[in-house]
Amino acid sequence: MDTSRRNFLASISMLAAYSAFPLSSFSFNNSKKLRIALVGTGIRGTSFWGKRLVDAYSDILEFVGLCDINLGRLKYARAYIGVSCPIFVDFDAMLKKTKPDLLIVTTTDVTHHRFIIKGLEIGCDVLTEKPLTTDEFKAQEILTAERKSGKNLIVGFNYRWSPYNTKIKALLMNQTIGKVTSVDFHWYLNTYHGASYFRRWHGLKDKGGSLWVHKATHHFDLLNWWLDSDPSEVFAYGSLEHYGKNGPFRGDRCRTCEHKSNCDYHFDITKDQRLMDLYVANETYDGYIRDNCLFREEIDIYDKMSAQIKYANNVTVNYSLTTYSPFEGWRIAFNGTEGRIEASLDIPYNQKTRIDQAEMHAREMEQQAIEEANFEEIIVHKLWNDFDTVQVPFQKAGHGGGDKRLHDKIFKSPEVDDEYGRAAGSRDGVMSAIIGIAARKSIESGKPVKIEALTDITPTVNRK
Ligand SMILES: NC(=O)c1ccc[n+]([C@@H]2O[C@H](COP(=O)([O-])OP(=O)(O)OC[C@H]3O[C@@H](n4cnc5c(N)ncnc54)[C@H](O)[C@@H]3O)[C@@H](O)[C@H]2O)c1
Repeated sequence: MDTSRRNFLASISMLAAYSAFPLSSFSFNNSKKLRIALVGTGIRGTSFWGKRLVDAYSDILEFVGLCDINLGRLKYARAYIGVSCPIFVDFDAMLKKTKPDLLIVTTTDVTHHRFIIKGLEIGCDVLTEKPLTTDEFKAQEILTAERKSGKNLIVGFNYRWSPYNTKIKALLMNQTIGKVTSVDFHWYLNTYHGASYFRRWHGLKDKGGSLWVHKATHHFDLLNWWLDSDPSEVFAYGSLEHYGKNGPFRGDRCRTCEHKSNCDYHFDITKDQRLMDLYVANETYDGYIRDNCLFREEIDIYDKMSAQIKYANNVTVNYSLTTYSPFEGWRIAFNGTEGRIEASLDIPYNQKTRIDQAEMHAREMEQQAIEEANFEEIIVHKLWNDFDTVQVPFQKAGHGGGDKRLHDKIFKSPEVDDEYGRAAGSRDGVMSAIIGIAARKSIESGKPVKIEALTDITPTVNRK
C-alpha cells in the first residue's frame, strides 16, 4: 500500500477515536487514491457524500462503486455525481467486486447497521450518516462488530463543526461559567423543514426511529460533546397532534391532491427539477413518493417532544423539539456555578434582517450553496457582572458551515490536532442515538429509562 493511502487510513482510525492527531506531514499523491464505495444514492448520498467529494477531493479519492435498491435512482446518481464507476443493486456484490478502503452509508436510518456491520466484517473502514442506528439492539450489534473487526467507524456529525457550536464548546471548556449544572435546550423546526419529515419515510418509527432519533441525535450529540459527560437517565413525553391523522383531510400525493388549493402544506415538487429527477422519475421502481401527504393515517412518530436528561456528572437538561414552528431556530442556556451562557440561532425576533422561512429551508438543503458569512452572538453573563456579547462569524449554508469543515477534516487535514475533539466515532453515535431511543421507551412505559440498561456502554462522568 502506498504511503499516502496508509497515512489516510491511519488518520481515519485516529478520527474515529478522536485522539490527538500527530503533526506529521500528510499528503496524498496521485498514484493511488482512496477507494470509496457508497450505499444509498438519495439526496444526501448524491450531494454531500457524492458530488461534493468528487468536486472537492478528486485528486485524493475515487468512487469504485455505488449501490441502491432503486436502479433508476442509481443511474441518475452516477451521472449527477459525475463518476463512471460500476453501480449495484446488490450490496454484497458491490463489496466483493470493488473491495473499497472506505464504505459510506447514506441509506434509510433503520438499514444503516446492516451495511456498517458487513463493511466492517469484510475489512473496510466505514463512515455512516447519522443517526448511527435506530434501536439499542442494533447499536449493540454495531459496537460488537467494530470491536471484532479492528476497523473503524466514523459518524458524520456535522453540527459539531459549525464555528458557532465550536465557540460554545470553547467557552465551556474554558470554564467560563464555572461548572455547568443545568441546561435548557429547545429546537424549533418550521412548517417547511419540520413538515418535510412527515412527507416520507421519516414519518414511520420503523424507518427512522422517530424524530427522537433521526433529528434529535444531532442535538443529543451536541449536548454530550458540550457537557463532556455521558447521559445516565431519560424521562420523556411525546405526542402526535398536528400532522398524520390530525389533518383535516388527506390525499394521495401533493401532485394529484384534490385539496391542493386549501392545504397550507401543499408542496409542488414539479418546481424542483433535482427532486423530480431523483425521486419522481424513479417512483416506478420502488413506490417512494417524495411529495407524500403529511396527513397520512400511517404516520406514527411524534410531532411534539419533550425530555429531561440526567447526565453522569449530575447536569440536568430540559430538552424539547417542535415540528410546526412558524420559524426555524434553536435556543440553549447553560447555567453554571459562576454564571450563564445563552446561545440561539435564527430566532427571527433576534435577527437584524428578516428571513423568509421557505427560502431559508431551500438554502439549507442546497448543499452546494455559496456560503454567506455574517456574525451570530453568544451571551456570557457571569454572576454579579453585566453580560458580555461574544460575536462568532457564521455561515448560513451547509449546517452553519459544519458540512464543509467536516469534509475538510476527514479528507484534507485529518492529521491536524483538533483541540475540541470534533471527530465522532461509534461510541458518540451510540450515546447520542441512545438518548432518543430511551426517550421513546420512556414515552411507551411512562417511566424513566436508565441508559446503562440499553447497551454494554457504562455511562461515565467524563465522556470517553
Ligand atoms: N447529517 C445531516 O445533516 C443529514 C442530512 C440529510 C440526511 N442525513 C442522513 O442521510 C441518510 C439518507 O438520507 P436522505 O435524506 O438522503 O434519504 P433519501 O430517502 O433521499 O435516500 C435514501 C436512499 O437509500 C436507498 N435505500 C433504502 N434502503 C436501501 C437498501 N436496503 N439498500 C440500498 N439502498 C437503500 C433509497 O432508495 C434512497 O435512494 C439518512 O440516514 C439521514 O439521516 C443526514
